Amino acid sequence: MQAKDRIILALDVDHEEEALRLADKLGDNIGFYKVGMQLFNSAGPGIVRAIQDRGGKVFVDLKFHDIPNTVAAAGRVVTRLGCSMFNIHAAGGREMMKNLAAAVQEEADKLHQPVPITLAVTVLTSIGQSDLENDMLIRGLQIEDVVVKWALVAKECGINGVVCSPREIAAIRAACGAEFKIVTPGIRPAWSETNDQKRITTPGDALKLGADYMVIGRPITQASDPFVAVQKIIEEMEA
Ligand code: C5P
Repeated sequence: MQAKDRIILALDVDHEEEALRLADKLGDNIGFYKVGMQLFNSAGPGIVRAIQDRGGKVFVDLKFHDIPNTVAAAGRVVTRLGCSMFNIHAAGGREMMKNLAAAVQEEADKLHQPVPITLAVTVLTSIGQSDLENDMLIRGLQIEDVVVKWALVAKECGINGVVCSPREIAAIRAACGAEFKIVTPGIRPAWSETNDQKRITTPGDALKLGADYMVIGRPITQASDPFVAVQKIIEEMEA
């Protein structure tokens, strides 16, 4: 895989025009465009096709979490949209994840399309140890233990990988093996601002830790020249 294919650009913007300006500028010089709740709920599913029409691959970041039948149906819809990657919450449980994996495979086969990569979100990185213990009543375990267990359950259900903090990469890699996809956000090249990210990792370090893909937003979207920012990140990854 080339370094550029590991970059997932977080298109955290309100408007379709702004997102497409970036897609026009960057085309297939990055791996994926991440369309999350903000852009999807403003621009609608057409934004996925519009980016794909420009040669981009799309990660639909809507974190599905509902009863198995509903999530499987949503998985079929995003597969029909042609997205390359999408995610769900592992907290939705085994049956939800198994049904989803089967539904996505079946839908892709029916349409003779590639099967999108499915990713599980385990414990959100915004959840702390005290939230886990006092509100979720998960006691006597460290967050990392929970993250690794849920990653394993996701893998058993046929989910292809996880989105996780760079701190969790090594433990997940050890537990889930080389083929399991690991996507990590919180990436900041040395030259860029940290913004509101607290525990940051450089693209080079994320690679060394074993990440397959990295989600990067503002260091690219807010750069004076996003194309140049991407080139600098690729150089850093290759070094
Ligand atoms: O602009 P920035 O590079 O901080 O964007 C990071 C992206 O990754 C955002 O879309 C954010 O929602 C997402 N994300 C994150 N931290 C997590 C999970 C997702 O920053 N733990």
